[in-house]
Amino acid sequence: MPDDFVTIDAKNLDTEAAYRLIVGCVVPRPVAWITTVNPDGLVNVAPFSSYNYVATTPPMLAMNIAKRAGAPGDAIKDTARNIKATGEFVVNVATEATMELMHRSGQNFPPEVSEAEALGIPLLPSRHVKPPRIALSPVQMECRLDQVVVLGSGINTLYIGEVVAFHLSPEIFDGRRVDSVKMRPIARLGGPFYAALGEIFERPMLQRPPGGEGWTGPESK
Ligand SMILES: Cc1cc2nc3c(=O)[nH]c(=O)nc-3n(C[C@H](O)[C@H](O)[C@H](O)COP(=O)(O)O)c2cc1C
Repeated sequence: MPDDFVTIDAKNLDTEAAYRLIVGCVVPRPVAWITTVNPDGLVNVAPFSSYNYVATTPPMLAMNIAKRAGAPGDAIKDTARNIKATGEFVVNVATEATMELMHRSGQNFPPEVSEAEALGIPLLPSRHVKPPRIALSPVQMECRLDQVVVLGSGINTLYIGEVVAFHLSPEIFDGRRVDSVKMRPIARLGGPFYAALGEIFERPMLQRPPGGEGWTGPESK
C-alpha cells in the first residue's frame, strides 16, 4: 500500500498546533460538566472533555485542566483552584438536553461570578461533598480528589478523583444498568463541534468484565 500519510513529529510542535492535533485525533470525548465550590461556598460550573474513567475499584475519574492560554500571572482555572482548595468536585454528565447551558458555562466568567447563578443552572445538594449536583444532568458523580499529576511542561494537570457516590435518574437507570442510549450523552469533537450518539452496534462480550457475575460470555461455558 502507498504511504501517503502526513507524518508530524511531535517534538517541536507548539502548544496550539499540538492542541489542534490531539483534540482532532482523540474523538469523540465525553464531557464532564464539573461543579466545585470555592472556600466561601460560591458554586463554579465548567465543562471538561479531556476526561474519562480510569479505575473501577474504587471507581475513579480523571480530567486534565489546562492553564488559561495567554492569561497573565496566576493562570489557574477556577475549577482547578477550587479542587485544590477543597479536594472535592462533582462530575455531571453532559447531554443533548443540557448542551447549550453546558457550552455557555465554558465562557471565562470571573472567579467571583457563579456560572450556576449567572446562567440559572438548577442545583441539588450532594450527600458527601460540598459542591452541588446539576439537577438537569441524569448522572451526577460526587468525587474526592485522590491525586494531582502535573504533566509535561506544566500547562496541563491531571486531577484524579474517587467517585464516592453516583446519583442516577430513574429515567436512565433500572437498578442495575445505566441506559446510555436513553441518557443521550453529548461528545466533544475537535474545533467547535459536538456530536450525539449515532448508530449503536452490539457484539458479544469476549472477556469477563471486572466482577462479572451474571457473565454469560464464552469463558463461562
Ligand atoms: C465542551 C468543552 C470542553 C472543554 N474541555 C476542557 C478541558 O478538558 N480542559 C480544560 O482545561 N478546559 C476545557 N474547556 C475550557 C473550560 O471549560 C474553560 O476554560 C472554562 O472557562 C473553565 O472555567 P473555570 O475557570 O470556571 O474553571 C472546555 C470547554 C468546553 C466548552
